[in-house]
Amino acid sequence: MPETRVPRRRRFLVCEPRHFAVQYAINPWMQPDVRVDVDLAQQQWQSLISAYRSHGHTVETLEPVTGLPDMVFAANSAVVVGGRVFGSLFHAPERRPESTHYDTWFKTAGFDVYRPESVCEGEGDLVWTGRYVLAGTGFRTTREAHREVQEFFGHPVISLTLVDPYFYHLDTALFVLDDDNIVYYPEAFSAGSREVLARLYPDAVLATRDDATAFGLNSVSDGRNVFIAPQAEALAARLDERGYVPVPVDLSEFRKAGGGIKCCTQEIRS
Ligand code: ARG
Repeated sequence: MPETRVPRRRRFLVCEPRHFAVQYAINPWMQPDVRVDVDLAQQQWQSLISAYRSHGHTVETLEPVTGLPDMVFAANSAVVVGGRVFGSLFHAPERRPESTHYDTWFKTAGFDVYRPESVCEGEGDLVWTGRYVLAGTGFRTTREAHREVQEFFGHPVISLTLVDPYFYHLDTALFVLDDDNIVYYPEAFSAGSREVLARLYPDAVLATRDDATAFGLNSVSDGRNVFIAPQAEALAARLDERGYVPVPVDLSEFRKAGGGIKCCTQEIRS
């Protein structure tokens, strides 16, 4: 019998994909000027919001801004732990203006926002595990930013090197299930980083390349329910065996920009 998993209510910040488009290419999934079906994207995104709400989570929204087609990827704009907000400094000049809008949202909601000095893409690369921050580098967030994150939060930051351009953000290669365990795709990491993960999480769920290319690692878990791409069928079955409840949410339209469920979701941890 698998364990009974206990969900914890979350507070999420999201941004509607009203201006979603693929206008530039900053990761291998993006083909500039590929047509995006904005109506479909909006429907898919609404289904994610409904799934969160029907599972008891709080969802707050920020107004999208014309000319910022990737603003829907809320995860990239900050990492929030213990009510403290560490903002972003995007690698791509096209995305840099997003930060101002997110910072304003956080300030209006009563948070101070720390502005990083080095390139840093929020929860895209900085994953809070409940004990420490797993921090990706290699494509976007810099090692220097990892140092800033550790200094800011006073929590240990564990640097992990990403090696596959298709999995350019840590949240495309790894996600946290609960305080004790994670899921990851080992081949997305350097040999040394794989060893670090194996030492920290000997019981981790290991995903395949198919799971990863289906954006199955870009999932959100509340400790019991795992909001996951339906295309990551094999991974969902393995999570089910471990006592988690996969909740399929199809965000296929966002793959054109290299994004999925987690990318669209910023968690505000008080
Ligand atoms: N087009 C966006 C970029 O390349 C996608 C961001 C996806 N977000 C994420 N958290 N992985 O920056």
